[in-house]
Amino acid sequence: MLTKIIAHRGSKGIRPENTIPAFEKAIDEGADGIETDVHMSKDGHLIIMHDETVDRTTDGTGRIFDKTLAELKQLDAGGYFGYEFLGTRIPTLDEVVKFLIEKNYKGLFNLELKTDKIQYPGIEEKVSAYMAQQKVPFQLVYSSFHPQSLVKMHTLDPDIEFASLFKVQTKFARKFYRSRLVKDWHPDIRWVRAHRFFLPHVQLRPWTVNSTDDMRYCFKRNFDGIITDYPGRASIIRRSI
Ligand code: G3P
Ligand code: CA
Repeated sequence: MLTKIIAHRGSKGIRPENTIPAFEKAIDEGADGIETDVHMSKDGHLIIMHDETVDRTTDGTGRIFDKTLAELKQLDAGGYFGYEFLGTRIPTLDEVVKFLIEKNYKGLFNLELKTDKIQYPGIEEKVSAYMAQQKVPFQLVYSSFHPQSLVKMHTLDPDIEFASLFKVQTKFARKFYRSRLVKDWHPDIRWVRAHRFFLPHVQLRPWTVNSTDDMRYCFKRNFDGIITDYPGRASIIRRSI
């Protein structure tokens, strides 16, 4: 099996992250997977964005959780990246899922619950209930840096695939490994390289694998996947291995 190329927040290197143009580009570039992040608005909508605040990637300020969907939809989420993306809006999870279905996208869809810094009340139940209603043609993988979120998601839907995210190996990651509850590990590539990490029973998909050297390292070791801002570059390198 070829190492999967997973577009980090869409093709984040060349499009405004976590927007429809970024996901469209990932599909055009032939990415095997798409990674994205979900938060919750003040009025309970599932919002696709990386940060807890809108400050870095929009023309607004403040926390997502303090804004309604209508307020979030007024913000520009493309202009920070380039003039040509002005007018791009923050998508909801529903809009992204509908877009992928419309595109007949059949790759991996890695949805990270951004529950490590803010505990959005009921987000796990909301995500699980929403995804359960959809007839999606893609492979769904949940991930989180917050172990309790993963345990909750697993309780809600034991059949779905889960990935443990970590920057350094935590006791939770070890516990998950031993319990086999989580068979996918999504660690920081710097941690993988420092530890020369190889364990059976684990599908390894490090992030954020952007340099040619890191890409070659992962492809040569036949890791299950890489999460990268540059899926196009990764495809060229994968073909050359
Ligand atoms: O899922 C991998 C990666 O996205 C985790 O870190 O901060 O980019 O969400 P971050
Ligand atoms: Ca993420």
